[in-house]
Amino acid sequence: MRMYDIIEKKRDGKELSPEEISFFIEGYTKGEIPDYQASALCMAIYFRGMSEAETVTLTECMARSGDTLDLSDFGELSVDKHSTGGVGDKTTLIVAPIAACLGGVVTKMSGRGLGHTGGTVDKLEAIPGYRTSLSEEEFISQSKRINIAVIGQTGNLTPADKKLYALRDVTATVNSIPLITASIMSKKLAAGSKNIVLDVKYGSGAFMKTTDDAEILAENMVKIGRGCKRNVTAVLTNMNVPLGENIGNALEVKEAIRVLKGGQKDELYEVCVALATEMVALFKKIPPDEAKKLVIGAIDSGAALSKMREWIKAQGGDERCVDDESYLPSAAVIYPVLSPTDGYITGTDAQLIGASAMILGAGRESKDDVIDPSAGIVLVKKPGDRVKSGDVLCRLHTSDVSKLKEAEKVFLSAVKFGEKEPPKEPLIYKIIR
Ligand code: URA
Repeated sequence: MRMYDIIEKKRDGKELSPEEISFFIEGYTKGEIPDYQASALCMAIYFRGMSEAETVTLTECMARSGDTLDLSDFGELSVDKHSTGGVGDKTTLIVAPIAACLGGVVTKMSGRGLGHTGGTVDKLEAIPGYRTSLSEEEFISQSKRINIAVIGQTGNLTPADKKLYALRDVTATVNSIPLITASIMSKKLAAGSKNIVLDVKYGSGAFMKTTDDAEILAENMVKIGRGCKRNVTAVLTNMNVPLGENIGNALEVKEAIRVLKGGQKDELYEVCVALATEMVALFKKIPPDEAKKLVIGAIDSGAALSKMREWIKAQGGDERCVDDESYLPSAAVIYPVLSPTDGYITGTDAQLIGASAMILGAGRESKDDVIDPSAGIVLVKKPGDRVKSGDVLCRLHTSDVSKLKEAEKVFLSAVKFGEKEPPKEPLIYKIIR
């Protein structure tokens, strides 16, 4: 078999055989196929697309390219959740303990943030002592003991995706539905859970800017996940505005705890209830309206909060932070950004707000940047709010005063003002079950 022929076949719009796809993934992972041929194939896939059968094979080959986790001991109870990435997205910190306290087994590998979006691992590392790296044995035994363990991705999970994603990033081939689907779903398959809930975000702070694109991606991922014998549900959620009030690692942990205490019943709460409902419906095999009652009960009774305490402690973190947020990092400087005008806030560019938080130290521009766990933004006003000139729009948190002016400028460029109250946007566009 020759890589040249595979590229030519896809270039001409023909369907690749499972053997050809497997030849490509194995050869590329081992370094036997050079980057220039892999990029040519990615570009051909970008233009020609892939059939469902091709995408299933690609996903399975990528999932098998490195270690895979065996969660068969947990039977039908293992449950994972994946977000396509957003700003202020701390939902994992909330839905994972909810699902775990209701009997699901959340054995989860999460990612770090890059660019304007945050990553769960960075948020967890804001908790003093929390270990985001456990041996496979510790990971599984903790999951057996308390139903929940959340760590960073291990070194050898889906190496094919690591190489291919880096290549796509520099060859303008990221934005291809079959390639995104295989990239995300291969990681989920390798991580082993039987039940998977996908939070597919759309809007200014998301990877998919429109509901149409998000829907195509979500439908594709659900189809491919099911083709690979997993139970998959996708929830399409709005990311035109950051989720909740806090953006930044320790700030997001604080907000997640507030939601689990029942002290915040806003959009963040609603999205978390929707996601947790789908998780519970999958692993308990019950109708969503029944699952929703259990989810709300787990928050109201404090059971999910207790699970969070237990989880943090099990992973070496200082669980006192659940009851007293002074055990979490806080910023040396808190700076208010004031409204330059009177009127309504008619919208935001969530990506720019994420960029402003990144400038303050909450995220990294390149992989080796060091994060300031206390840095970030607390939103005071959101779209639909009426403001007067001089009102506080948000508070910037940082340890580095020299970052404030640029972060303020970027933040203000993200906020749109107008005379008329804007229509309320739906928070959840669609659920694909
Ligand atoms: N996230 C991923 O993990 N892969 C992609 O291709 C795009 C977003």
